[in-house]
Amino acid sequence: MSVYRAIYTSRPFGFDSGTLNSILVHAQRTNPSVGITGALICREDVYLQLLEGPEDEVRKAMERIRRDDRHVEFRIHVEKTVPERMFGKWAMLHDPAATWIWSREEVRNDAIERTTAAEVEGFFQKLSDRNTSPDMT
Ligand SMILES: Cc1cc2nc3c(=O)[nH]c(=O)nc-3n(C[C@H](O)[C@H](O)[C@H](O)COP(=O)(O)O)c2cc1C
Repeated sequence: MSVYRAIYTSRPFGFDSGTLNSILVHAQRTNPSVGITGALICREDVYLQLLEGPEDEVRKAMERIRRDDRHVEFRIHVEKTVPERMFGKWAMLHDPAATWIWSREEVRNDAIERTTAAEVEGFFQKLSDRNTSPDMT
């Protein structure tokens, strides 16, 4: 069965560990009940989230998340059907993105505005590989 994949970026508004924790707790509780898996890359200057699952559920979740006032500058980079999930084992994998996406300076210099679908999908592919490759375990 095919899977719908959506990826967006946004800028955290009021980023702190309590906020992040409540977002993750909510995501990890809600997503399994609607067949969604995915990953959230978070840093104080950027969120990048990949959601995957049934198309109608992913679209509904994206709409709820878009309206959330804990972030701004919501920007969709990818919405498409794909043959399989990247994060099938995770209701919402969390990664603190210390060094391996854009640097803080790149974000300040409009990396998000200039990115491509291939670049953001590449970040998640790397994250998925890091979390599934046998030599990581
Ligand atoms: C960066 C970010 C990521 C989020 N990820 C999810 C998610 O994966 N699943 C989810 O159900 N809610 C997620 N939320 C929370 C939703 O935005 C929303 O607060 C929640 O679904 C409750 O919506 P409701 O009050 O309209 O029911 C996220 C919020 C933010 C700011």
